[in-house]
Amino acid sequence: MMTPSLRSKVDPFRAMDVLAEANRMIAAGERVLSLAVGQPAAPAPDAAIDAARAMLGHGRVAYTDALGRRELRERISRYYLERHGLAVDASRIMVTTGSSAGFNLAFLAAFDPGDRIAIASPGYPAYRNILKVLGLEPVEIPVGVETDYIFTAAHLQSAHEEKPVTGVLVASPANPTGTVTPPEELARLVTYADAQGIRFISDEIYHGLTYGGEEASALAFSEHPIVVNSFSKYYCMTGWRIGWLVLPPELVRAAERIGQSLYISAPEISQVAATAVFDAAEELDRVRDGYVRNRDLLIQRLPELGFRDIAPIDGAFYAYAGIPEGWGGSTEFARSVLHETHVAITPGTDFDLVRGESFVRLSYACDYATLEEALGGIRRFTQRR
Ligand SMILES: Cc1ncc(COP(=O)(O)O)c(C=O)c1O
Repeated sequence: MMTPSLRSKVDPFRAMDVLAEANRMIAAGERVLSLAVGQPAAPAPDAAIDAARAMLGHGRVAYTDALGRRELRERISRYYLERHGLAVDASRIMVTTGSSAGFNLAFLAAFDPGDRIAIASPGYPAYRNILKVLGLEPVEIPVGVETDYIFTAAHLQSAHEEKPVTGVLVASPANPTGTVTPPEELARLVTYADAQGIRFISDEIYHGLTYGGEEASALAFSEHPIVVNSFSKYYCMTGWRIGWLVLPPELVRAAERIGQSLYISAPEISQVAATAVFDAAEELDRVRDGYVRNRDLLIQRLPELGFRDIAPIDGAFYAYAGIPEGWGGSTEFARSVLHETHVAITPGTDFDLVRGESFVRLSYACDYATLEEALGGIRRFTQRR
């Protein structure tokens, strides 16, 4: 019997399993409130849709350079200047099919099979899965309430001293914890990584969605980090599959060569829409204001509902919290909440293979009324026990 490759044996993304179950319930005519998936309920801004529509009017949607359209790369370069006061040459920017493709390209351009890459646990599960599929070793470093779930330079140093790592990937704001790494800690991380020859990868996909603390790019501290970013979250363009990398000069040609063969280019229509979306700040900030209201509601309600060890809800659009006392595990808790109250939440096992059974993640990228109703359902559910 011919079998799947050994490298394909990665864990399923359980949030997607919850989504599939919720969709089955919806197909059966039931109403489900979803706090399970990390995507904005808001549509892409008008500016993006209008630009795409105008392009379709001309009919032709084609391949672009593997690095992306010049207009978009230059617009992203201008974003760094306007937003962060940083001069990032457009030649270092590569447009990608979402940040998901960006991770593949970054890992392939920077690392060789067997290399060890440090990541925080809990963390975004695709990091672990992509690293494994590519023959790289994820080195999962537990973070918890003692550092407000922030992955620090001290974490990196002790992991590296125990057994050297080749790379480190840090997200700020982070999924699932919503933590924001303070600029001075990010500077310490980048400086330590540079000094040790460790390649620093900074996932900045939730930039624009910081509510407590300050948002810094790793590029402010060095030109060696690889920065991964996307139009999926702040820009509300998940399904357009469009993101970008900022690469250190020595990796640009390597990533371009790999990109030419893996993807040819990111979708041209999405590149055109993304170029226009930078002009939609007002509309996007209104969406963001909605998250701020949702966040305030969660900060108040989660402790009342008995959730514990709540990560600071400082950024992105997630709350990560220990399930109330008396529950065996979060998989059972999430399943019961879904079936009894029709509210979909994600068990922490996606994000933390060791401690995740005690935690759940709630996404608050929905509207306020949905969140309020969902929390009401969870309240009735927990009170019944
Ligand atoms: C931390 C983090 N990075 C990357 C991604 C991938 O996003 P995309 O491929 O849509 O850019 C996600 C999606 O949820 C995420 O949470």
